[in-house]
Amino acid sequence: MTEDENLRTRIAAELAAARDRTTLLTTAVDEADLVKQHSPLMSPLVWDLAHVANQEELWLLREVGGRDPMHPEIDPLYDAFEHPRAERPKLPLMAPGEARGYGHEVRGRVLDLLEQARFEGPRLLDEGFAFGMIAQHEQQHDETMLATHQLRVGPPALTAPLPDPAPADAARLPREVFVPGGAFTMGTSTEPWALDNERPAHPVDVPSFYLDTTPVTNAAYAEFIADGGYDDPRWWTADGWEHRQRAELSAPLFWQWEGEWVRQSFGVTAPIIPNEPVLHVCWYEADAYARWAGRRLPTEAEWEKAARYDPATGRSRRYPWGDSDPSPGVANLGQRHLRPAPGGSYPDGAAPSGARQLIGDVWEWTSSDFLPYPGFVAWPYKEYSEVFFGPEYKVLRGGSFGVSPVVCRSTFRNWDYPIRRQIFAGFRTARSVPETEAAPTARER
Ligand SMILES: [Fe+2]
Repeated sequence: MTEDENLRTRIAAELAAARDRTTLLTTAVDEADLVKQHSPLMSPLVWDLAHVANQEELWLLREVGGRDPMHPEIDPLYDAFEHPRAERPKLPLMAPGEARGYGHEVRGRVLDLLEQARFEGPRLLDEGFAFGMIAQHEQQHDETMLATHQLRVGPPALTAPLPDPAPADAARLPREVFVPGGAFTMGTSTEPWALDNERPAHPVDVPSFYLDTTPVTNAAYAEFIADGGYDDPRWWTADGWEHRQRAELSAPLFWQWEGEWVRQSFGVTAPIIPNEPVLHVCWYEADAYARWAGRRLPTEAEWEKAARYDPATGRSRRYPWGDSDPSPGVANLGQRHLRPAPGGSYPDGAAPSGARQLIGDVWEWTSSDFLPYPGFVAWPYKEYSEVFFGPEYKVLRGGSFGVSPVVCRSTFRNWDYPIRRQIFAGFRTARSVPETEAAPTARER
């Protein structure tokens, strides 16, 4: 196969995988559930269904293929910037059958276009970028739809096997790993489908620090609650404390006290699993926990260094385990399971530092605001990232069990408001190396 044929095959497979998942998420419930708004934070599922088709038409058929709009009158309905999620149920949206038919028609034409596509020339086509962007976009909406499923009230609609139990060495893992100080390469200029905010690659000097070996678990988080963490303003930022009071936060979203902590997960309520990473906490809660534990959230640069930097070669890897794409043996991704794997899982996916589960399982809140890298250039449109840069958004890294591998890289940056809890987010904590402390020897590491 030529390089173009290889790429064409990969693009077709990624587009098909995204559509299969969209179909699963939108056929698991009935029509009434598709058009209903399950939370003011989310769109009705039928909006996502037509929106992914509309974006595919816009970018692939119109921008790349130069075709005329199929239904120009619907463009404003599915423009995420014109209508906030809370308003979307009141719009004259396509019915589920119409939305499916539209998506099917767009996809058929896109596959015809793909047959003839040459992956050079205009930048949108370079290495299949626009096709990769659309596959990632649909998978990102699939994750959003998965969050809508989690918010939906009613009998379970989705099933998946449980993750494997923790490996034998999980209980013996050190609490934290050491990441040596010095410069490393952050971001990427070579990953073909990386989005504008991940670019360009640039050196960042990160002093030595310690990072939790695994994400913070339910058991550890329950200790914070039991110790009165939600009632002690010392652990909270001023904004966080105000939000905690106003929103009456007292435990992660979907947790309930019934003589023990139970958690609702995709329609099933069961006792929390102690060694599972905590999920559905907002940035303020993660930050308060870290302070209670005498630690702090890692910066985004620290997180990426822990996930990519290889001290043996001095270079940054694509993933913690190396440069190969994610596989089921190294990370919990792609909705293969409907929950994070126990802390300490995936030894084969560990970073050189020894940290595990940096990719997959839970999105990890960092202490950093969402800001452009030096040399940032908006591409292919300002609304992808640039309009969100600023102190109101915090960066999350690593991806969750609900993220597809096509959208998951060690350079990938997610962002959200510090109050958001419906996303599949947890965290791990860090600490600086005290000035009086010598760096650990190789053996201690
Ligand atoms: Fe979108």
